[in-house]
Amino acid sequence: MHTIDRDPLLLTPGPLTTTLRTKQAMLHDWGSWDSAFNRITGDVCGQLVDIVHGTETHVCVPLQGSGTFSVEAALGTLVPRGGKVLVPNNGAYCARIVRILKILGRDVVELPAAEDCPIDPVAVEAALITDPRIGHVALVHCETGTGVLNPLAEIAAAVERQQRSLIIDAMSSFGAIEIDARTMPFEALIAASGKCLEGVPGMGFVIAERAKLEASAGNCHSLAMDLHDQWVYMQRTTQWRFTPPTHVVVALHEALAQYQEEGGVVARGARYQANCDALTTGMARLGLRPYVPAQAQAPIIVTFHAPEHAAYEFQAFYQGVRERGFILYPGKLTQIETFRVGCVGALKPQDMLHVVEAIASTLTAMGVLAAS
Ligand SMILES: Cc1ncc(COP(=O)(O)O)c(C=O)c1O
Repeated sequence: MHTIDRDPLLLTPGPLTTTLRTKQAMLHDWGSWDSAFNRITGDVCGQLVDIVHGTETHVCVPLQGSGTFSVEAALGTLVPRGGKVLVPNNGAYCARIVRILKILGRDVVELPAAEDCPIDPVAVEAALITDPRIGHVALVHCETGTGVLNPLAEIAAAVERQQRSLIIDAMSSFGAIEIDARTMPFEALIAASGKCLEGVPGMGFVIAERAKLEASAGNCHSLAMDLHDQWVYMQRTTQWRFTPPTHVVVALHEALAQYQEEGGVVARGARYQANCDALTTGMARLGLRPYVPAQAQAPIIVTFHAPEHAAYEFQAFYQGVRERGFILYPGKLTQIETFRVGCVGALKPQDMLHVVEAIASTLTAMGVLAAS
């Protein structure tokens, strides 16, 4: 039995490990009507739009709930009833968008792709040329189900050439991988508090083109998910429409301060890349191979093939690594046995080396790796 004198580190794509400063920001209570709290919300929204250089064109609408709530709200608010959406599909979060659109009663065309390959921008453009009824493309930037990074800049250019609109699920890339509204045109981008910004979970947000949001009144099937209504109310009152996740908002504010101190998207992305490199190099020494080819791998989360050994079993492996102080993530592939290790959160390359040691020690104890 191992005794660890700290919380386990989360090697997951969110919730993820946060700093003490971020946790301490949650030690106060805030009133939802209070102007001090509402100034924080306004400041958070302003910073989020700045991260994608969208101040001239875009606005930020925050929404209570996990990331999926904001994905559903963005699709339900911005895709008109009777609208048709192309969904390039190379993984679980793309499939979730398809499912949401079907439930919302919007027409969907899927563009299927292999799960270990990035979406092909040429295929996206061809699909748009073939079907003039498609008004929107809904793209997952980093497909967290596998760790594949999709080529956002090229797809945004193709969508613009064909004069359609792009909705980006940037849940696991926002803040760590550069997205620039000036050069990668998008109608809306969705992300959340508890991902690469290293806040805690509980709030999503949609950065939407102001003109498109203004034109979306009456599209949404739902009151709680209506981003137009949320935005209009916030503009008028500075308050959230319904009970805000106050502690989440102040934690995100504190996390954003640390994000800026670290050096913004460039520094955050570089740290995650260093984490990813330390992880994959260490795992290679144990004979554990990534599922995604290196050129398609986002520095966010890595899917590894499970060891092909009769003594390997995920639950026991997970438990062993947990006892050594780290929380891993199960794989999301149906055909191949895998597990995932996140590179994001308040972690450094040194932490990744310790994870690899914990994995090696667990697999040795399980009899999967030979004792050295
Ligand atoms: C790409 C992507 N989209 C959507 C989601 C859904 O977010 P949530 O689980 O917070 O609802 C996630 C979660 O990790 C994600 O990685």
